Amino acid sequence: MSGLFISFEGIDGAGKSTHIARLQAHLEAAGRSVCLTREPGGTALGEAVRDWVLHKRMQVTTELLLMFAARAEHVAAVIRPALAAGQVVLCDRFTDASRAYQGGGRGVPKERLEMLASWAEDGVRPGLTVLFDVPPQVSRQRLAGLKTPDRFEQEQQAFFERVRAAYLDLAAAESDRFVVLDASQPLDEVSAALIVAVDARLS
Ligand code: TYD
Repeated sequence: MSGLFISFEGIDGAGKSTHIARLQAHLEAAGRSVCLTREPGGTALGEAVRDWVLHKRMQVTTELLLMFAARAEHVAAVIRPALAAGQVVLCDRFTDASRAYQGGGRGVPKERLEMLASWAEDGVRPGLTVLFDVPPQVSRQRLAGLKTPDRFEQEQQAFFERVRAAYLDLAAAESDRFVVLDASQPLDEVSAALIVAVDARLS
């Protein structure tokens, strides 16, 4: 059984975590071996980087390079070995988050992002990317009062409008890789649509 690399994307508050957990349970019940991981994070070094980028003020370039440094480590130490072992890798954010947040949100040029992407990914790319699409007004309401907002969650609505638009552009440009789900729909409907999309790709 060959592995499959699935990444999950969307603006903060799109409900990703809940849907990923439900999908993991579904896949494991069907006998698949699942590697659940996230970015920034996924390794001890990546989790330390996560703590920095979510909470410390830094230059845009520093943020960009830290995201990709953590990614290089994650790909080599976790994702590539898991795929080689035939696991389904469920990755909560990957390079598209850098394209959308650092690119769309912060204005980092595309050429710079793609150069770092090919370097850090070293040929390991998602076979399927699920985009949980939701208007920023909806995600903001969902996040309100849930926890202390991190450095990204403190951004203004205009930032999230740019991030969302960048995600939708990426999905349109690579429609074979992306599945876009309307995450403003009820949770159970979104989860059901996610499971149908992933089962179709695995069969
Ligand atoms: P997330 O895991 O969704 O955080 P939470 O625990 O709040 O659900 O994402 C962490 C944040 O990091 C999110 O705001 C997006 C940001 N991010 C980037 O800006 N660039 C990246 O390359 C990655 C992977 C994440």
